Amino acid sequence: MWASAVLLVLLGSFGANALDNGLARTPPMGWLAWERFRCNVNCTADPKNCVSEKLFMEMADRLVEDGYKDAGYEYVNIDDCWMAKQRDANNKLYADPERFPSGIKGLADYIHSKGLKLGIYTAYGNFTCQGYPASGMHLELDAQTFAEWGVDMLKMDGCKQMDRHTMKKGYPQMTKYLNATGRPILFSCSWPDYERGAGIPINYTLVAENCNIWRNYVDIQDSWQSVLSIIDYYAKEQDTLVPVAGPGNFNDPDMLIIGDFSLSVEQAKAQMAMWAILAAPLLMSNDLRTITPEYRDILLNKDVIAISQDNAGIMGKRVLQDGPLLPQFVEAWTRPLADKKYAALFYSRSIKQPLNTNVTMKDLGLPDYKKGYMVTDVYAGKKMGFFGEKDRLLVKVNPSGVVLIKAEP
Ligand SMILES: *[C@@H]1O[C@H](CO)[C@@H](O)[C@H](O)[C@H]1NC(C)=O
Ligand SMILES: *[C@@H]1O[C@H](CO)[C@@H](O)[C@H](O)[C@H]1NC(C)=O
Ligand SMILES: *[C@@H]1O[C@H](CO)[C@@H](O)[C@H](O)[C@H]1NC(C)=O
Ligand SMILES: *[C@@H]1O[C@H](CO)[C@@H](O)[C@H](O)[C@H]1NC(C)=O
Repeated sequence: MWASAVLLVLLGSFGANALDNGLARTPPMGWLAWERFRCNVNCTADPKNCVSEKLFMEMADRLVEDGYKDAGYEYVNIDDCWMAKQRDANNKLYADPERFPSGIKGLADYIHSKGLKLGIYTAYGNFTCQGYPASGMHLELDAQTFAEWGVDMLKMDGCKQMDRHTMKKGYPQMTKYLNATGRPILFSCSWPDYERGAGIPINYTLVAENCNIWRNYVDIQDSWQSVLSIIDYYAKEQDTLVPVAGPGNFNDPDMLIIGDFSLSVEQAKAQMAMWAILAAPLLMSNDLRTITPEYRDILLNKDVIAISQDNAGIMGKRVLQDGPLLPQFVEAWTRPLADKKYAALFYSRSIKQPLNTNVTMKDLGLPDYKKGYMVTDVYAGKKMGFFGEKDRLLVKVNPSGVVLIKAEP
């Protein structure tokens, strides 16, 4: 069967050597500042939205008080632009003292007091993407500094004044230094994306030995086009990317932009469902202080989150598109879940009317199609019934919308 074959591949080629820090057994969930708040550092001009400890504390409060923490979102992640412009006299990184008066240690204490975890950001080059000091020549010292502060996750970007040809050595060095601190720190690597950008062959075995999650492709932006281009990349590369994902190791298509300026409710449901099918980290980059209830409900949908967090940790893939079985512009993706269950989704790139599917469980590639499956429409929260070998699933997929189903043998 397909699922068990995938599991064997996982255990055979990756499971044995995957990074062993006990973290990211399911895709990590939390909040990450970058897409929404960027490098907004002028707290005089924009005190509410500048990159400052206040911003992260307020997001932590919202995570706890508005139900996100209970739903599984636990990391509060700083991105670029938190540092002072220089290292200190001992070469250590430190936070901009005006925007982070408590220092990162003080912020970490606050985040931990809420039962949450703190993520931080550095880069492999000598400077971050926005020109702040980065870890290039100080990997060991910075790993120690982050651990002393009580950091729980590290995103190491690439960026300025760096040699992409040394990343295969440099990222694993950082993995060793993080491990040597004795503090479990979830390691998020931008390494494969930079190698891809430079045409350097990516060794995903090596990546999975050293990183918990890793960016494969360009940054997400606040647009549906951006979401679509990312989905297309994962479909195109699925034969390479699906086998490397598993508990402890996940491909990262970048942040959720649900509740920001561009996505409609249909599109937001589609991003959430697709990220669940992809076993992607669920790192929201939005303003939890002003998000409207319809978007919040999508982010808190416990049945979609359960698919994302399925403990088999298998990444899904595209199984049908533009063929005789689905109308043009509609795609079907499936993800094997634990206990022989499956999640599947249909999504539509049509810009016209809703389109109908007409497929059997066999068409979707579900192995137990002869015995049949009990099917639930996840967003509708409704059982659609039992589908035997000949039964056809007829659902309407809205333009740039999604139908997410769960199939249980
Ligand atoms: C920050 O914004 C204020 C008010 O708009 C402006 O006067 C000041 O020059 C800005 N500071 C910097 C460093 O850009
Ligand atoms: C940092 O800069 C130095 C000097 O220019 C260079 O040799 C080194 O490769 C850079 N570090 C990284 C990690 O690229
Ligand atoms: C360090 O690596 C060892 C061996 O892979 C592992 O058992 C241990 O849990 C790791 N420690 C941390 C803090 O990541
Ligand atoms: C990829 O990395 C793995 C693990 O370090 C190594 O065994 C393998 O030889 C590498 N493959 C290539 C093509 O370099």
